Amino acid sequence: MKLLVVLLALGGIVGLHGFKICDRMAPGTIMGSPTNCSEFYMCRNGRPVLFACPENMYFDVDTSACGYEAFCADNDVDFEQDPYEPPVPEYRPIEANPSQLVPTQTSVCRGAAPGAVRTDTTGCSAFYQCTKAGPLRLECPAGTLFDSNRLVCDAADIVSCAYAPPKPSIGGGGTGSGNLLEILCFGKKNGYKFAHPTNCARYVVCNGRNKAQEFTCPTGTAYNKQRKICDFTHNVEC
Ligand SMILES: *[C@@H]1O[C@H](CO)[C@@H](O)[C@H](O)[C@H]1NC(C)=O
Repeated sequence: MKLLVVLLALGGIVGLHGFKICDRMAPGTIMGSPTNCSEFYMCRNGRPVLFACPENMYFDVDTSACGYEAFCADNDVDFEQDPYEPPVPEYRPIEANPSQLVPTQTSVCRGAAPGAVRTDTTGCSAFYQCTKAGPLRLECPAGTLFDSNRLVCDAADIVSCAYAPPKPSIGGGGTGSGNLLEILCFGKKNGYKFAHPTNCARYVVCNGRNKAQEFTCPTGTAYNKQRKICDFTHNVEC
């Protein structure tokens, strides 16, 4: 029981950090994590994105990039501050996939200083961070893409991408639908419910981690957007 309380309190602190660290920071700002030397945040409007450096690399506050001989700032976080403040789900960081050094992609960071951010000209799902050890490929988390103008991972439906069509078309059906639903669930709370974009008899519930689950209303009913329930079809405008 005691352990649970401690874990909950820690969860709250960690949850708040991404938020406080990015408070008043411009979208795209890279900030080292005060609680883990190998992690860093990318600030955006809303939940920041949490990235991890590859194994044996640490976030270097001098270059704002991952490095092997990195100077990791002392943990100067005041853990005494409001440990019981509840976590703010809207600002809990979104975790990105593991990053990967791609030393062979030499041209990506040619002439760039460590810490520089470079776009991936083959698509908008990832970007590069230039490090002393070579380009580091970082993938934006599910539901986000890299905005090639603003240089930030952001909700896929609002980014501008110079290298690939970023927006899946609604009504494309079948294969594209899952991805679209994830995009619609991006940043939404656990339990957030909405009408399926292409099928009246279905609705979608978000799980709070940018994932979507589809449900089908019972026969003779369809999803009523206003009442947020499965309703008799004659009550539903389809
Ligand atoms: C720090 O972050 C890395 C990468 O996410 C993780 O593997 C490691 O366990 C973390 N260390 C601590 C002490 O939490």
